Amino acid sequence: MDNQRVPMFTRRRVIASTAAVAFGAAIPSLWAPNGNAASNSEEVTLHAAAGHNKLGSGVTGPATLWRFNESIPGPEIRIRQGSRLRVTVDNGLAEDTTVHWHGVRTPNAMDGVPYLTQKPISPGNQFVYDFNAIDAGTYWYHPHQRSFEQVGRGLYGPLIIEEANPIQVDRDLTWMLDDWRLNPSGEIEDDFGNSHDMSHSGRIGNFVTINGTRLDTFIVRTGERIRLRLINAANARIFGLDFQGHDPLVIALDGQPITPHRPENGLVVLGPAMRIDLILDMTGNPGESNEVIDRFYDGLTYQLTRIRYSNEVIRDSPPDWPTQLPANPLKVPDLKTAKRHEVTFSGGMMGNMVARDMGINTTRSNAMMGMMHSDKIWFINGIAAEGHIMDPMLTLELDRSHVIAMTNASAWYHPIHLHGHSFRVISRNGEKTKYREWQDTVLMAPRETVEIAFVADNPGDWMFHCHILEHQASGMMGVIRVA
Ligand code: C2O
Ligand code: CU
Repeated sequence: MDNQRVPMFTRRRVIASTAAVAFGAAIPSLWAPNGNAASNSEEVTLHAAAGHNKLGSGVTGPATLWRFNESIPGPEIRIRQGSRLRVTVDNGLAEDTTVHWHGVRTPNAMDGVPYLTQKPISPGNQFVYDFNAIDAGTYWYHPHQRSFEQVGRGLYGPLIIEEANPIQVDRDLTWMLDDWRLNPSGEIEDDFGNSHDMSHSGRIGNFVTINGTRLDTFIVRTGERIRLRLINAANARIFGLDFQGHDPLVIALDGQPITPHRPENGLVVLGPAMRIDLILDMTGNPGESNEVIDRFYDGLTYQLTRIRYSNEVIRDSPPDWPTQLPANPLKVPDLKTAKRHEVTFSGGMMGNMVARDMGINTTRSNAMMGMMHSDKIWFINGIAAEGHIMDPMLTLELDRSHVIAMTNASAWYHPIHLHGHSFRVISRNGEKTKYREWQDTVLMAPRETVEIAFVADNPGDWMFHCHILEHQASGMMGVIRVA
């Protein structure tokens, strides 16, 4: 395979790269956890501002990026489960912003949704987010204001909430994946929110980074056990990672523990905003090397990085340490008494054809399809969102179990995200799921049906939207009220 070129998704030029060796692209850490459990309070400041970075050794020039604390990704916030986090967000951008704590069960007022849960932070102003870290796991933060450009230009970072008693590993690493659309001079292609991206698969880039840079080589030691926390921060790209020669074990999905299992066909699939924690046992021999390839999209396979073994051997065979993470305090939905709701996603290019095939009436959206150049391209139950303020599409009774039966009546993938809760994914296309999946973002294939279930125990108005940020911006968003 051609070394490290990311095949063109659109007709845009691919930026080639030169090889470089790195020990792992490190994310600056804001602070390490302070050993004592509960009642700790951690304070941090995130300053959002524009700046210039080169995204890797092979890129021609620096790109204009928007960054937290001058770094891509923003600093890794690492705290202990049960502690309290206070983050001052200081807006040095030329436009309004907010910060959303993706996957974290915060009180509604701390959720970072402009107009719905707070006034956006205007340039030069600050907002203090303050909440308790209830669940351990791998989370992330990003703006919720014009996210298709703010996240697309680099405003995001990892939030790691450590278990009180973490499982034993030799290294605990975070890989925040992103793709960028660069022009030949290495600058960000300035076509955010164009109608082609909106009506098709979203803004897919041509340059993929791990922790804000191209990671050409990832050095490991024979016998070591790595906990690898993968976070997909891309606007639209879905990753399907194949760790050739290795047998990754999935131990958490969207931060929440899952029955440890090998992924189907060995492929680790992450839709936008999703997280997967892996146990990677480095079973190769000293001096060996293997590719990590992304083969999610047919015919568009490329090498994400290369695993290279140093000469060090730390043990002869994988350790027999436990891999099951301790459960988080989530209320288990009662499927017998759950109230059932139906939600249909439609729209986009070829959407009418798919909906017609599936026998789904999209009259309301049909009326809109003549307006493809407007921002109303995608629909939830026939309605296209025009901003964050809208009438709730569903009102869920507080403290009661609910099932949402979702249908993707479109020709495209959609990673569907609910704020303020984690939900069980209970079935896909009528078939029960197998690993006690708790998620906050569920990737739906074209024409797929998925049932999710949860106890609506967090009161407030919560966003429910596609995390392909161009789809979100062009209508695929709604409000679910828990009251
Ligand atoms: Cu990660 Cu509503 O967002
Ligand atoms: Cu979508």
